Amino acid sequence: MRVLIVGGGGREHVLAWKIRQSPLVTRLLCAPGNAGTAEVAENVAVADGDIEGLVALCRTESVDLAVIGPEVPLAAGLADRLRGGGVKVFGPGAAGARLESSKAHAKRLMQRYLIPTGSSRTFQDFEDVANYLEAQQHYPVVLKADGLAAGKGVVLPESLDEALAAAREMLEGGRFGDAGRTLLVEEYLRGEEVSVLALTDGKTLAVMEPAQDHKRIYDGDRGPNTGGMGAYSPPPVANAKFLADVEREVLVRIVHALAREHVEYRGVVYAGLMATRGGARVIEFNCRFGDPEAQAIIPRLRSDIVPLLDACAIGRLNQVEDLEWDPRPAVCVVMASGGYPASSHKGDVITGLDEVREMDDVHVFHAGTARQGGDVVTAGGRVLGVTALGDDIAAARDRAYAAVEKIRFDGMQFRRDIASRALGR
Ligand code: AMP
Ligand code: GLY
Repeated sequence: MRVLIVGGGGREHVLAWKIRQSPLVTRLLCAPGNAGTAEVAENVAVADGDIEGLVALCRTESVDLAVIGPEVPLAAGLADRLRGGGVKVFGPGAAGARLESSKAHAKRLMQRYLIPTGSSRTFQDFEDVANYLEAQQHYPVVLKADGLAAGKGVVLPESLDEALAAAREMLEGGRFGDAGRTLLVEEYLRGEEVSVLALTDGKTLAVMEPAQDHKRIYDGDRGPNTGGMGAYSPPPVANAKFLADVEREVLVRIVHALAREHVEYRGVVYAGLMATRGGARVIEFNCRFGDPEAQAIIPRLRSDIVPLLDACAIGRLNQVEDLEWDPRPAVCVVMASGGYPASSHKGDVITGLDEVREMDDVHVFHAGTARQGGDVVTAGGRVLGVTALGDDIAAARDRAYAAVEKIRFDGMQFRRDIASRALGR
């Protein structure tokens, strides 16, 4: 089978690493990939947003199965285009991707199909939202841009003044561009966040092991939101009851909802959840693997991933075996470049990668990296995800940080408290 992975981040490197291990794969391409995917796949210089270029690539290279990593090409309808050309695709079409690309749409589905989530209202007009905010008694409130904003479209104002300023910036100041022209005001949920992802062919689903992301840039969950500074799997807060509730009340219902709404959804449904005292509540849905959750979850998957992705793509997920998991936990620490998340720094030489290669149960997944002569250099905000497995979370964490200590580049930033919630319990 000839497989193409679309994307060039850490999620795509872990997918490439896992897909490469399948005996079913004869050729593996990654567009555009990074310095890490180049070690396990053939990188092709086509951007993940270049829909025409990707359609042409699948044709010239006779790609059998395309696995689309990021949300932007999914929302742009890449999966529809490729399917139209006869390629099997893991990833929803534009209609399915609206689950992530419009938070207002996702909320409507959740309300219609009784999926537990915080209450919310949608606004397009500043006067309307101002009136609504003035009547709010409890702060913080949650303001969200409706559209895609790379994980940065949420603000949590602590006061009416802050809320009004943020709402004005989104609706009238063009912050988040078109994505912010519709605004959601949502109930603030308290608790621990958990990500639960399921593979689906739109009819049945297979739930993956849960993970916990760390969205803020600094230790102790301080500073601005990022795409994710680390993840671990499984988080203790996601106990058996929690997971059973999430499967029944969230994942089964959303797959059913999509089918009822005539959406053929083949890929990942990612439920971003808050474990509140009243049970699991959906914060958001994503239409793809999480990044860096994938770097903590996929190394624990023992099953060959290719038959799973293929079964989703062709609507036969009911015919594959249950997923098999390594019981050992995994911890992934993200190393980011100087200036992230406001900016990023390119061209800094990364050292220590060869030394880490010698370590057992450690995998370095590249995100923003590139080759420059004989060196691997930084080429984006999030640079590396260093994943380790261990007999327990503490052992996995210690091993991941032992690897991180060997890696160096100018301006590097990483959190020192990944997985500490699990250990502080
Ligand atoms: P989102 O882009 O919807 O995942 O939101 C980004 C982050 O904002 C989440 O990971 C949460 O930390 C926070 N957040 C979003 N919605 C809520 C909410 N309703 N209550 C509390 N925190 C939230
Ligand atoms: N790590 C959060 C996300 O992938 O959306």
